[in-house]
Amino acid sequence: MFWLLTLLAYLLGSLSFAILLSRQAGMPDPRALGSGNPGATNMLRVAGKRLALWTLLGDLLKGLLPVLLAARLELSLQQQAWVGLAAVCGHLYPLYFRFRGGKGVATSAGALFGLYPPAALLAISAWLLTFRLTRTSSLAALTALPVCLPLLAWQQPEALLPISLLASLIVWRHRGNLHDLLAGRERHF
Ligand code: G3P
Repeated sequence: MFWLLTLLAYLLGSLSFAILLSRQAGMPDPRALGSGNPGATNMLRVAGKRLALWTLLGDLLKGLLPVLLAARLELSLQQQAWVGLAAVCGHLYPLYFRFRGGKGVATSAGALFGLYPPAALLAISAWLLTFRLTRTSSLAALTALPVCLPLLAWQQPEALLPISLLASLIVWRHRGNLHDLLAGRERHF
């Protein structure tokens, strides 16, 4: 059951809502616009609030639902975290879109919410506060990660390995943003 659910999570995570919603709206692929990231932030830049919100919701749910299902099937906490990681991997390397996906922030937040809601709420608060202060989405994501990880490690040590891998993947996918942040040319709102 664990492997089947992991596969299903990857396939669900591969649904890139930014790309699908853009296609439906007759817009160009978001990977060719703005920052090139098929995620809610870039959709806000290039497609407006409504499509950005739907993208955010879809990306969150595809992280949350597989983890909730894994919990419902009474898989261990570590297995639930692996399932969440599989959904995030789908978002980063989507099967249906030539493996060119996004940065995994919203999908990770959804998975984290399924695993341990207080850690997700802490991450979302840190994201909102940083974004309010800096108007920079990537910096908000990179701040939220280290803020919530210690709480998760303390409360759910079983999930630490998959969650650390997830955090490393997010940082890796933000390497271009990190470069731009250091060079002072990152995009702000
Ligand atoms: O969630 C994605 C965000 O952290 C960065 O997006 O489009 O500014 O590279 P973007």
